[in-house]
Amino acid sequence: MNTLANTLFGNLISFIRRILFCILSVGPIPNHVAFILDGNRRFAKKLNLPEGMGHRVGFQSLISVLRYCFDLGVKYVSVYAFSIDNFKRKPEEVQSIMDLMVEKFNEMVEEESIVYQYSVRVYIIGNLSLLSDNVRLAAEKVMKATSSNNKSNLIICLAYTSTDEIVHATQESCDDKWAKIQSSIDGEMMEGKREGCFVIKVADIERRMYMGVAPDPDILVRTSGETRLSNFLLWQTSNCMLYSPRALWPEIGFLHIAWAFLEFQRTYPYLEKKRKEL
Ligand SMILES: *[C@@H]1O[C@H](CO)[C@@H](O)[C@H](O)[C@H]1NC(C)=O
Ligand SMILES: *[C@@H]1O[C@H](CO)[C@@H](O)[C@H](O)[C@H]1NC(C)=O
Repeated sequence: MNTLANTLFGNLISFIRRILFCILSVGPIPNHVAFILDGNRRFAKKLNLPEGMGHRVGFQSLISVLRYCFDLGVKYVSVYAFSIDNFKRKPEEVQSIMDLMVEKFNEMVEEESIVYQYSVRVYIIGNLSLLSDNVRLAAEKVMKATSSNNKSNLIICLAYTSTDEIVHATQESCDDKWAKIQSSIDGEMMEGKREGCFVIKVADIERRMYMGVAPDPDILVRTSGETRLSNFLLWQTSNCMLYSPRALWPEIGFLHIAWAFLEFQRTYPYLEKKRKEL
């Protein structure tokens, strides 16, 4: 009896999911959805799971969320996996998260992984020099292996903060300008033109952002009911819809995603207008 009830319930859920899927497919679909994966540790505590298990379950949720997004036609998904500030946590905890990353990066390059099912190009961005060699090598391997995938994109922010990204991009823009000035001196460029070389424009900095591989996000989801940005995509979120469901990250499901997309579709005309004014 119980199994019958479960089956009926399961069927009902998948029926609702299909209906929602059809409704959502009619409206505009966000191009880029960003996630702050908050609440893995709280989830483990809540369910009395061993420490570190929260992150494992959280990874499963990430795979489901990626499926929902890519099935709906989202081209870019970015996730805040590990902040530079997270290095201040207990060394054992940092180590176990890093071990999990290496394990998951290695799984990603396997034939049957979601990355190949959906032809996902994976970018791992941030100050990668802060990572230990094995993590950086695993990250580089995933990026190389997926570099010709061209249907969708997953951007994993690792050893990332927005302020670090902005400083880095500014530095690179200055280096670019300096190289230009050098070559203009060599080539005896005209005075007026040389002046122009010193000006750094917004576009120069944006080109050098780690996030330069993606358009600005349309929706930013932060789980656990928190509404802080915690130094994630500060530069890129000026016209982005924020959504903070109460669910902890491992508890996030299709309904949360559907709700965020419906809300996005409702505010879409306004956001588009804002964008055109820029
Ligand atoms: C995407 O990759 C596939 C397989 O490598 C290739 O056949 C296709 O032309 C590519 N599409 C674009 C738009 O580059
Ligand atoms: C990356 O971190 C290292 C070590 O803290 C620092 O020296 C370097 O300037 C950082 N690089 C960038 C691009 O932020």
